[in-house]
Amino acid sequence: MSDTVAKLKKERNAVILAHVYQRPEVQDVADFVGDSLQLAQQAAKTDAEVIVFCGVHFMAESAAILSPDKIVLLPEENAGCPMADMVTAEALRKRKAEIPGVQVVAYVNTSAAVKAECDICCTSANALKVVAALPEDRPILFVPDRNLGDWITKQTGRKMHLWEGYCNTHDRLSVDDIERAKAAHPEAEVLVHPECQPEVVAKADFVASTTGLIRYAVESPGTSFIIGTEEGVLHPLRQKAPEKAFHLAARTLICPNMKSTSLEKVVWSLQEMRPRITVDPVIREKALQSLERMLAIV
Ligand code: 13P
Ligand code: SF4
Repeated sequence: MSDTVAKLKKERNAVILAHVYQRPEVQDVADFVGDSLQLAQQAAKTDAEVIVFCGVHFMAESAAILSPDKIVLLPEENAGCPMADMVTAEALRKRKAEIPGVQVVAYVNTSAAVKAECDICCTSANALKVVAALPEDRPILFVPDRNLGDWITKQTGRKMHLWEGYCNTHDRLSVDDIERAKAAHPEAEVLVHPECQPEVVAKADFVASTTGLIRYAVESPGTSFIIGTEEGVLHPLRQKAPEKAFHLAARTLICPNMKSTSLEKVVWSLQEMRPRITVDPVIREKALQSLERMLAIV
């Protein structure tokens, strides 16, 4: 199957970008595997004519915003992000009207229409830098992840109005799960993603975006780690540090949307050149500004 992908990729002049939460076999055929920030950076600079985005809808939309002259394919059209669906442009406009002078920071896990309503985007990898760079004389509204927002506030000391959104996959990791994993692996360090609940984040030895967690586990002297993020990261971790032990903090750390892209769908998508992701030009223009402001900071 990977030979078929390679042949089709050449014929179509396509690049395959995959998030680290994708299935191992999908990560293995990708030209680039990374976190949300790295994938947006890759999408902005690729020379390929076609971008096959193995991730979820908002990521493919960001690629279409950053590279409007490319064809962007999302092999599984229904791969959405429940957290991104927790804020709509209409609800955001309403909330903005209630906070005079507000500046809005949107996590990239949002639709293009929401990005068009905000001042700047961030990912979990650059959120602290983005928020620290904002003018101090205006209130901040952070959408949609309340858990990431709470972590940013604690790390930067910047007070923010938070939206009541959350990631189903990370938010259900509990303090009990962490305690159970620690009892089973007392020697292990606990690494968690800031999309987890504040009580879980408080139990961690290290908190970072997916790429930050991978870098820490591979480069630090520790040899055993409890992983508090989606299980897809186990694949690069075991490839990069086969001598170390990685224990998923709970069996529930699986995002069904990220896992809905299969190798078969990647092949089909390249053969059929669909489903294509496009963004309305007026929304695109505004959303691009929010993404470009973020990319100028990192
Ligand atoms: P990062 O890729 O920024 O770590 O985000 C995690 C995530 O949940 C993506 O959907
Ligand atoms: Fe959305 Fe969470 Fe899945 Fe990421 S892991 S796509 S934030 S539901």
